[in-house]
Amino acid sequence: MSVVEKFKTMEYGPAPEDPKESLQWLDRHHRRFGHFIGGAWKVPVEGSYFETSDPSTGEKIADIAQGSAADIDAAVKAARKASPGWQKLSGHERGRYLYALARHVQKHARRLAVLETIDNGKPIRESRDIDIPLVARHFYYHAGWAQLWEEEFPGYKPCGVIGQIIPWNFPLLMLAWKIAPALATGNTVVLKPAEYTPLTALAFAEICTEIGLPPGVVNIVTGDDQTGEALVNHPDVIKIAFTGSTEVGRAIRRATANSHKRLSLELGGKSPFIIFEDADLDSAVEGLVDGIWFNQGQVCCAGSRLLVQESIAAKLTRKLQARMSTLRVGAPLDKAIDVGAIVARVQLDRIDRLVKQGVAEGATCWQPEVVMPSRGLYYKPTLLSNVHPTSIVAQQEIFGPALAAMTFRTPREAVELANNTVYGLAASVWSESVNVALHVAAQLKAGVVWVNSTNLFDAACGFGGYRESGYGREGGREGVLEYIEPEWFHKAPLIRAKAAVKVGKTEVANPAIDRTVKLFIGGKQVRPDSGYAVEVRSKKGELLGESPLGNRKDIRNAVEAARKAETWGKTTAHNRAQVLYYLAENLSQRGKEITGRLAAAVGKKEAADEVRLSIERLFAYAAWTDKYEGAVHNPPFRNIAIAMNEPVGTVGVICPASVPLLGFFSLVLPLLSAGNTVVAVPSESYPLIAGDLYQVFETSDLPAGAVNLVTGRTAELLKVLAEHDDLDAIWCYGDEQMCATAKALSVGNLKQVWTNEGRELDFFSRRQVAGRWYLEHAYQVKNVWVPYGE
Ligand code: NAI
Repeated sequence: MSVVEKFKTMEYGPAPEDPKESLQWLDRHHRRFGHFIGGAWKVPVEGSYFETSDPSTGEKIADIAQGSAADIDAAVKAARKASPGWQKLSGHERGRYLYALARHVQKHARRLAVLETIDNGKPIRESRDIDIPLVARHFYYHAGWAQLWEEEFPGYKPCGVIGQIIPWNFPLLMLAWKIAPALATGNTVVLKPAEYTPLTALAFAEICTEIGLPPGVVNIVTGDDQTGEALVNHPDVIKIAFTGSTEVGRAIRRATANSHKRLSLELGGKSPFIIFEDADLDSAVEGLVDGIWFNQGQVCCAGSRLLVQESIAAKLTRKLQARMSTLRVGAPLDKAIDVGAIVARVQLDRIDRLVKQGVAEGATCWQPEVVMPSRGLYYKPTLLSNVHPTSIVAQQEIFGPALAAMTFRTPREAVELANNTVYGLAASVWSESVNVALHVAAQLKAGVVWVNSTNLFDAACGFGGYRESGYGREGGREGVLEYIEPEWFHKAPLIRAKAAVKVGKTEVANPAIDRTVKLFIGGKQVRPDSGYAVEVRSKKGELLGESPLGNRKDIRNAVEAARKAETWGKTTAHNRAQVLYYLAENLSQRGKEITGRLAAAVGKKEAADEVRLSIERLFAYAAWTDKYEGAVHNPPFRNIAIAMNEPVGTVGVICPASVPLLGFFSLVLPLLSAGNTVVAVPSESYPLIAGDLYQVFETSDLPAGAVNLVTGRTAELLKVLAEHDDLDAIWCYGDEQMCATAKALSVGNLKQVWTNEGRELDFFSRRQVAGRWYLEHAYQVKNVWVPYGE
């Protein structure tokens, strides 16, 4: 028998990992766990427990405390108590704790890996070689940010008590993604692990004690969705960081709308895995194994939609089926296993239901003849081909080991198909042509793109989604920003009802000018759909002019025009900067007349200041446009990750009622600088500013549709913008009620919402209303991983 033949027939024997140490740890806790609150184990207030079990055997592992609202309250109190002391520590002191956490995770790596595997069902090979090392890496990396706190984040403060809710697919890794940046930046946390997989979070709690972390800095409350809800609704929680399903993400957005809670959401995905005909097919097939059968496909960024160029589809399918036939499904503690158990019965049923529905919709289902375990929750690696792009299996997250395959002909069609979902978490592109791969990567709506690779993660590279995959990033500098805010922001006073509207100073600088302005849509002055206009008067009652009353239809037209103008984001930064400089020039030329008109509304001095500072702000953002650049990360693999700053897309802007000119420019300019297109609702109290603005725009090189102006009743237009499913984000400046409306109504397409939280910002202060903080919100980071070196 030749070596090749032997290799082909070689049978593996079982190679189980020894679980003894982990089982002893469970026994030391009598297989019954309370909550970890204020540095101690607490019996649940209502005394109820639920079971966590091993999905590969169905056997019970331990009893876990079911958290009630009272438990959450106790944990939040402990976190609040610990907060001042933790914040007072220097960055270096906090860094030492994070470093100790990293070291102790490494020390207990074996125990943690086994616990993860028996609780979740994932192969030990993955928990041992991927999950736990990445957990340690995350704490090391953030120990570094803590160390650099004073140097890198001057003027920022931590948010306070953070509520963190995590899913079951990467239990300890998701904990690390949440806890490490929060602690590094001086926050304290209450974390709720998923009900199916609480064990490693509890083991981590013990590590916190072991390293002497001050009590209350980390609190772990176990339980189900109701425990999660209690955490979301707790009034003293300042921010919620959530990873899980899009549906629950929506519910949390809704539940937190009426509060000042900050929110980051890492939600579902339906990530494309695109293979071009010139790809190295054998590598691509291995990539697919990692893309969709890693962790049984229970991965938010799983390459669950295979898009393969038609010319190689048959060949690829043959290779893929051959490889699928060699996948070993079985006991996850066996080191030679590729596919482990599905986390829970409901998840298994859900996968089965979706696959059957896909087949009913016309897909062809193929599964290899692999040996399946006789007990436990398993699902065969599955290939669904001939899938229609609108089929449920092409659109919905299956979250299981099932791949939905489609074909395409041209790169353009590949991009169209790839972007044809509501999600935008990740993508994988396979081509030996660097031009094709990067050209396609740039056009994909996804927070992470892997070129000739898949499912690579590193703490230095931000991870997070576009569109309904959520907002916010975890990892990288951008991930740190999720947990801090400028010191001045929380001190800014709340806008009191009406106080915002500063129209009509008693002294009118110039005689009132009677004029009628129009809406500005797609680069043209247009009459409002309603046909109505409102009179705009100074406080003294003089008629200043008439302003159109925009409605739903006008907003719809404006959004359409803004969408069409998205090439603005693709022009070079140099070009965008030139346009902004030119706007400054035009504004300066018209400065005197605009000041004169504006004075009638806001007084002579403020009008002059607004015009002067608007010109300065135009210069400032022109300056930033070709300087606010991305980064190149060097993750510990043979890759670089290019962190590209991309525009968020088309953004609705509700401008402040006061400060009509400078308020508009302060919000719209960072967006334009970043390459977004805008539909703005100018100041309700002085909407005539629109006329001055579009005259400046018309005589500039700003492309038609890049900025659209719809005046009218702000409350009404805000609703239309917030509900509009083709807007990517809304920036709303207003009182608390308006900010709550923007958040609550954004749930439809989960657009990004950025508000002033009802606070009065000082638009005349460069520190408050200019610069990086605004740009950070105007861009979203896309990490493109590119293989590098030999
Ligand atoms: P889920 O989104 O319901 O659960 C995630 C976490 O949120 C858990 O800790 C859960 O207890 C908590 N939770 C649930 N409802 C809540 C609420 N109203 N308020 C606060 N917290 C709440 O995910 P589930 O039910 O475990 O899985 C269902 C589907 O969600 C999966 O089939 C998959 O498609 C998707 N999913 C996506 C994940 C991702 O990483 N993108 C992770 C887990 C699930």
